[in-house]
Amino acid sequence: MNVASINLFSPEFDANPYPLYQEIRENHPLFYYAEADAYVLSRFNDVSLAFKNPAFTVKNYEFQSEPLHGRTFIQMDGSEHSKYRNIVAPSIRGRELMQNIVPIIEQTARELYQPFKEKNTADFAVEFAARFPILVIVGLLGLDKKDESSFLTWYRTFVDFIADLGRTPEITEAAFRTKEEITDYLLPIIAHKRDNPADDLLSTMCQSEIDGVRMSDQEIKAFISLLITAGGESTDKMLSLTLRNLLMHPEQLEAVRHDRSLIANAFAESLRFSPVTHRIMRITSEEVEVSGGTIPAEAKVIMLLGAAQHDKQQFDQPEQFNIFREDLDVEKAFSGSANHMAFGAGRHFCVGAMLAKVEMEVAFDQLLDLTTSIELAEPDNIREQGLFTRGIEHLKINYTLS
Ligand code: HEM
Repeated sequence: MNVASINLFSPEFDANPYPLYQEIRENHPLFYYAEADAYVLSRFNDVSLAFKNPAFTVKNYEFQSEPLHGRTFIQMDGSEHSKYRNIVAPSIRGRELMQNIVPIIEQTARELYQPFKEKNTADFAVEFAARFPILVIVGLLGLDKKDESSFLTWYRTFVDFIADLGRTPEITEAAFRTKEEITDYLLPIIAHKRDNPADDLLSTMCQSEIDGVRMSDQEIKAFISLLITAGGESTDKMLSLTLRNLLMHPEQLEAVRHDRSLIANAFAESLRFSPVTHRIMRITSEEVEVSGGTIPAEAKVIMLLGAAQHDKQQFDQPEQFNIFREDLDVEKAFSGSANHMAFGAGRHFCVGAMLAKVEMEVAFDQLLDLTTSIELAEPDNIREQGLFTRGIEHLKINYTLS
């Protein structure tokens, strides 16, 4: 296949991107893709280099994220990035995560599974996965539970906007209306939390200072808005992808059922085998030599994470889902030293990776406690789709209650 015939937007590619990823990785590891005016990287080592080399800046988020959320640390570099990231990072990992957030995660899962106890069939993607991570974020910010349904609506609007590459006017308008609604909702709450701090992430942000100056209301609002998409969509989709992978490999599901420590393996391998994020962009600040070619300064770069995660140079038999694979380091899979890239790599490595892991562990532990067996209700009707992020909209399951 020559470069001119590569189409990264075709319906066939959307249906199954992996054959084209292989062709690109093997024969065109660096090429200019005119359709997107961008240079494309696909090999594990090249994508890893781009994540870690400061010449690949995150200026792309000035047009991919800022219009919706406002300016946040996802688009910052250097010491400014570290200062803002460090306000949030300690609150959602380590001791704080285990002490303050795990009870919220467990309670949220219990509530969402309650209706599952009245029946033997459910759409896991709709009834659990699409709601769980957002409700956890509402809980960890210390917001009122009665506002959960507004958050779920805002979340859906943002996700629809991100997936709508053609910028349909109604979807765009709804997203910008949501931006106003979130601002109107949050500003009075931020004012209240400044005077009445509690033990939650929103109060932490209200008290935090950058170089002796408190974060402004707009900065806090922008960050919460980012969390709804960054922490919501990825975890939502990975929950359903992980369950789908296990249900398609019943012997691996049985192993997880009997040894719950393997939930971490199942999640890590699902992140490698079926990552939610398939494309991440960067903008070069200078000319860079990579993969035997040159990317000029000020160029857009698309890193094909989905292709990198299936690189034979990194993973043996990459098309096989195997929670016992020895070339994926599960101990490190949720930290900056991970040997997969589903959480990115380098200084912008996902700040919520540990949180996502705990959410996954609680969600699957409770689901397995609730049931003695689970199977796909419509195995021939499961559609993974999406060009930038991939997921499954419906995952119907039949189960036997314990
Ligand atoms: C399965 C779940 C998740 C996946 C696969 C995922 C994936 C990613 C990836 C690939 C990046 C890097 C983006 C880049 O380099 O351009 C990232 C960054 C980020 N993620 Fe996650 N994420 C997940 C869960 C979460 C959660 C639960 C939160 C928070 C509640 C979160 C918040 C963020 C933030 C704020 C960043 C920006 C970090 C920075 O710029 O320093 N993510 N995530």
